[in-house]
Amino acid sequence: MDVIEAIKTRKSIRGYKPNLVPKEVLAEILEAAIRAPSGMNNQPWEFTVIAGDVIKQIGQANLEKLSARETPKMEAPRTESGQFAGIHRERQVALAVQLFQLMDIAREDREKRTEWMMRGFRFFDAPAAIFISMDESVHPGGQFDIGAVSQTIALVALNHGLGTCIMGQGVSYPDVIRKFTGIPESKVIVICLTIGYPDWDFPANKVQSEREPVEKVTTWCGI
Ligand SMILES: Cc1cc2nc3c(=O)[nH]c(=O)nc-3n(C[C@H](O)[C@H](O)[C@H](O)COP(=O)(O)O)c2cc1C
Repeated sequence: MDVIEAIKTRKSIRGYKPNLVPKEVLAEILEAAIRAPSGMNNQPWEFTVIAGDVIKQIGQANLEKLSARETPKMEAPRTESGQFAGIHRERQVALAVQLFQLMDIAREDREKRTEWMMRGFRFFDAPAAIFISMDESVHPGGQFDIGAVSQTIALVALNHGLGTCIMGQGVSYPDVIRKFTGIPESKVIVICLTIGYPDWDFPANKVQSEREPVEKVTTWCGI
């Protein structure tokens, strides 16, 4: 697939077919993705791939934490408070409005909203997910490199007919992940990607997220 085509067709997939992704395919994707750049080639990424019973158990344990009203908290949040404000919050809300419309979730329908949130915490029922962690000694700077490898995984996956969603929800109860995967405390669990064959009939997969125009986010100097 042409690079531009891949970049433009990649989108977050939140509904998957139940078909399993062969281990060899997942390994091939990671093999290509680790060509991603990293600061001074420090390669902070460490992958933990989950599927089968393990992804189900982690999803279930996440739901139990949610039901017990334990506040989800990422180890590497995108802002200090974990929340967006101002224009960033507005963009977040715009996406949610689009997704809720596609999923036919009314603003006041708490039950459906909760079900939608739970879906994220159980990895959108994807057959597999990839956690990306890094040693605490390279936190927080290594997040930049993990961003690069995450996007590379998402693009390479397209070549195999696979969809992905880079997602924070799945890593919001790190103690659950540690329990089922053995990732030690000395590693910061940064992010995960769900991965599987897209179910194109799933309404949320029709979302086309918006972008600010380039001229609004670019300053040209000397050109
Ligand atoms: C760091 C990061 C965390 C994300 N976390 C979530 C998440 O927890 N749940 C979710 O549904 N999508 C999540 N997303 C997906 C974004 O919502 C998505 O990338 C954005 O809306 C742009 O849409 P697109 O990926 O379809 O282009 C995350 C994306 C990134 C890069």
